Amino acid sequence: MTRATVKRRRGLLALSLFLALAASSTPWSAVLLSVGALQIMTSSSSHPSLRTCSPTVGGSRFRRCGHGDDDIFVLGLKASSSTALRLGDEPQLQGQPNMKKKDLRTLQRFLEVECWKLPQIRSLDRTLLAVSDACKQINRIVQRAQTDDLYGAAIDPKTGLEAELNVQGEAQQQLDVLCNTLMLRAFCGASNDAVCAVASEEEPLPRSCADVMGYDVSTNSLVGGDLVKTFNSGEYVAVFDPIDGSKNIDSSLPVGTVFGIYRRPEGSYSSALVREKSDSYDLDGFLQRGTKMVAAGYCLYSATTVLVLTLGSGVHGFTLDPDRQIFLQTHPNMRIPDVGSLYSFNEANSRDYSEPVQKFLKNMKETGKMGGKKVTSRYVGALVADVHNVLINGGIYGYPATRDNPNGKLRLLYESAPMAMIMEQAGGAGSTGYGRILDVLPPQPRRRRNRQDDGASGGSNEDADWNEDAGKGIHVRVPTFLGSVENVFELDQFHKYYGESGG
Ligand code: F6P
Ligand code: MN
Repeated sequence: MTRATVKRRRGLLALSLFLALAASSTPWSAVLLSVGALQIMTSSSSHPSLRTCSPTVGGSRFRRCGHGDDDIFVLGLKASSSTALRLGDEPQLQGQPNMKKKDLRTLQRFLEVECWKLPQIRSLDRTLLAVSDACKQINRIVQRAQTDDLYGAAIDPKTGLEAELNVQGEAQQQLDVLCNTLMLRAFCGASNDAVCAVASEEEPLPRSCADVMGYDVSTNSLVGGDLVKTFNSGEYVAVFDPIDGSKNIDSSLPVGTVFGIYRRPEGSYSSALVREKSDSYDLDGFLQRGTKMVAAGYCLYSATTVLVLTLGSGVHGFTLDPDRQIFLQTHPNMRIPDVGSLYSFNEANSRDYSEPVQKFLKNMKETGKMGGKKVTSRYVGALVADVHNVLINGGIYGYPATRDNPNGKLRLLYESAPMAMIMEQAGGAGSTGYGRILDVLPPQPRRRRNRQDDGASGGSNEDADWNEDAGKGIHVRVPTFLGSVENVFELDQFHKYYGESGG
């Protein structure tokens, strides 16, 4: 090969390096890949037995460079003599030897250290690990939804008929039931018994963990009684949406899981929890402001499976390593930009939005800007995916009040409040337009006569009222805006001027 040819080839490779850098979202890997290719050409050019690379071997993305018996396969531009695949190697992604793993902290280690540092959540490490395991299982269920027989309405095991509509007025699907069961068991079945009761989007009323784990709270048998006491001694209550945005599954789009954990107030769930029938739960633990939450998080099932968690001191992101099935801390100390350009609302509803939101949108569209930045719109239709996008890139997510839903659509307890805690902990904000989401107190039930005082139930009407009030409190909706401080502040200003109390 003449010097001129070698020079020309080097020039071409330099150009390919430039193009790879320009096109790549991971510039450093592109640099390394291209440098690897350059190395081969450079060393090969001085090798007397060099044969030029044949265009394709074993698929269009593979090039073959002759080195006698020791042929080297090059994946696109990727190669260095030390890492290239050898002849006969399958180009498998899983466990591929030349995919170097990063040295990242595991979620388990993170929890051990962080929960130990914070006395208010010390006993939650195993609970949160169990939740992360549930997320892995839900991830697999979601991935199997198209290939396995997981679709269709849920069947009530008692009647053998299709389950009734859930509390949201939707027909419960098999997937909802499966994912709900996994989350119930994660919170209530963790070996440390930290959680004593749970409330889920899929359940009309909260449930004690004794009930979730299948113990009859009304029996006073010694064994049953003891177990009930153990389950109900936990210091925390948990709220969750097991599968958020589940309609997206049909079209292979992202879905998520959201959860929050509160410390139960002193006195609630004491011996009184071993009560009878419908009031075998205690609402006080659930109907608290979001400011009382000690931990919140979400799992996103998307191109990667991500768990984002706050324990009240910053936000940390973990990505599921698909080979080892463990969560690794890929996003330590996540911070949302102070201002961003993402606008994530369901635009189709905009005609029905409240006046302040319409004015905000009008201004945004007329100027093409939001918070002084050029605006761009993204909407996946699953809260977790949309909020994660805003958290990473900055901007605002919103589900405002509409004509049909005067409080919006999102549920305070297990959607808006956990997301607001995450946003605030990452340096962003969560607002109803008129105030902080975390300050909203869920509606409290009318107090009923104390059974222990008069020794009698108030009757079935009273039970029904109580249950209705409980459901209202647990599943209450709230207009929700989440994102960068500057963007949320701007939206709040529109509420100030054009809102109910504004001029
Ligand atoms: O849980 C409610 C939810 O499914 C969210 O995940 C999602 O952000 C929203 O509804 C989508 O609602 P819409 O289809 O009205 O935009
Ligand atoms: Mn949801």
